[in-house]
Amino acid sequence: MDLTDTVAVVTGASKGLGAQLSRMLVDQDAIVYGLARSTDRLDALQNHLGPAFHPVSCDVRKEDRVEAAFDTVDAEAGRLDVLINNAGLGQFGPVDDLDTEAFDVQMDTNVRGVYLCTREAVPTMRAQNDETGVGGHIVNIASIAGLLGTPNISAYNASKFAVRGFSEAVMKEVREDGIRVTCLYPGSVDTSFFDVAGAEMTENPLQPEDVAATVQHVLESPTNHLISEVVLRPLRPHREE
Ligand SMILES: NC(=O)c1ccc[n+]([C@@H]2O[C@H](COP(=O)([O-])OP(=O)(O)OC[C@H]3O[C@@H](n4cnc5c(N)ncnc54)[C@H](OP(=O)(O)O)[C@@H]3O)[C@@H](O)[C@H]2O)c1
Repeated sequence: MDLTDTVAVVTGASKGLGAQLSRMLVDQDAIVYGLARSTDRLDALQNHLGPAFHPVSCDVRKEDRVEAAFDTVDAEAGRLDVLINNAGLGQFGPVDDLDTEAFDVQMDTNVRGVYLCTREAVPTMRAQNDETGVGGHIVNIASIAGLLGTPNISAYNASKFAVRGFSEAVMKEVREDGIRVTCLYPGSVDTSFFDVAGAEMTENPLQPEDVAATVQHVLESPTNHLISEVVLRPLRPHREE
């Protein structure tokens, strides 16, 4: 897909990987609707990226807020070419220390949020396919934790394994509608994720720019080319560069 003048929604755009994905899309002349709860951070990003970036206050756990956000995109842009389900968090710790709130916030953000946003995007993309033969592209940011169980991250593992299953099912469900679904499984990325998770980051993580470059490659692949899964790892995770 040529990203010029496409309309994209990026969830969790206020910082980290979502902010970098938004920057990459604006650099390719896309119009980007960035969803997150921290409107101050979204506004600061708009000051940096310019009017092609549209801040949208949205908690992806909340059905009414997600519906309102996609209504805004529809009213203002009238189409949707790219959805990047990136909003997410980890809260790590031994299973017997993990409280219900920590379990629920990970499932609600990482799984329910992906479902709610995907449910809003698919009908618009399907209608575009009926008109033009090109539906759109949904990219889900899972994690290596969606492929491998690791001690002390059980709830995060459960949520990202769920994203894997959800992505594979929806990919098969909507491919004939001209909608591509890609699930990304990054290893450690240099963001504030680990502050939220309460864990140490790997010494030599991936950089958000490198992950965004991979997403750009996936989005720009030829129309009849479906990259359904991508695993990304730092080459030397424990070596200081
Ligand atoms: N960093 C890593 O090592 C790594 C590795 C693999 C996968 N990932 C995945 O990459 C994604 C992005 O994480 P990151 O590393 O960029 O972490 P980050 O810097 O902590 O950013 C997380 C983003 O998610 C948003 N978010 C959290 N809860 C939300 C909610 N309820 N509604 C809307 N937005 C919400 C945050 O915005 P607000 O707080 O403003 O709402 C923020 O923009 C996540 O899905 C994460 O699981 C990260």
